[in-house]
Amino acid sequence: MIVHTALGDVGVDATGEGAPLVLLHGFPHDRSLWAPQLAAAPPGVRVLAPDLPGFGESASLADASFDAWADGLAGLLDALRMERAIVGGLSMGGYLAFAFWRRHPERVRALVLVDTRPGADSDESRANRRALQGLARAEGAAAVADRMITGMVGRTTRERRPVVVATVNAMMRRVSIPAITDALDAMMEREDSTPTLGTIRVPTLVMCGEEDVLTPVSESRAMHAAIVGSSLALIPGAGHVSNIEAPEVFNGLLYGFTLATIRGTPS
Ligand code: MLT
Repeated sequence: MIVHTALGDVGVDATGEGAPLVLLHGFPHDRSLWAPQLAAAPPGVRVLAPDLPGFGESASLADASFDAWADGLAGLLDALRMERAIVGGLSMGGYLAFAFWRRHPERVRALVLVDTRPGADSDESRANRRALQGLARAEGAAAVADRMITGMVGRTTRERRPVVVATVNAMMRRVSIPAITDALDAMMEREDSTPTLGTIRVPTLVMCGEEDVLTPVSESRAMHAAIVGSSLALIPGAGHVSNIEAPEVFNGLLYGFTLATIRGTPS
């Protein structure tokens, strides 16, 4: 569906009725990343997967920054008349979840940080991102997908699950060039969320595929250590897009946490 918000239209997939769980995709993805989670939503949970600004069917925002995107997410909750949500983000979606926590903490019931990292970009990462912007402009999204696919999925998936690799590849090839370049700008300029970790006071689940080479398990262990009361779940046989590589295990962990949060915290 398309949701009309104060900051522009947002493409959203949604299912179920109950406590809101908003899932934020990574780069260069779209909301279809979360199809295996929407298909398995348990009773009592309304699962929402928006396209981030410029991706899929969502309008881009004038300001390509996670602060602006966080305000856009608050606008989406307003438009849907949702006070608070459990907010989950994979990789770039996690960067947005950190910004959303900083700017709108009262709207966060719990956090799920998936295959992500808190730190800002190094100079080397920024140089790589600028090179990727050049590749996108010169050769298009397919070239970006070709560059990224090996790191995006884990070794086991590459060896045993060609359909998953094809699905992720197709998703990355669909992304528009402005979405790619804007998101790279936002990631290059994002602030260091490491100090944010110590401010988190909501239930938090940190998840990571054991074969993730883009945001390795060491990042998740460090986040878990820095977030008071958080839980850590490592997913065997999965890489960076652990939700789509090992959906059964992932869904069991995600929805176990979600239902425990709903039972244990005020709405
Ligand atoms: C992602 O999956 O969102 C990207 O790996 C994030 C990044 O490039 O930092």
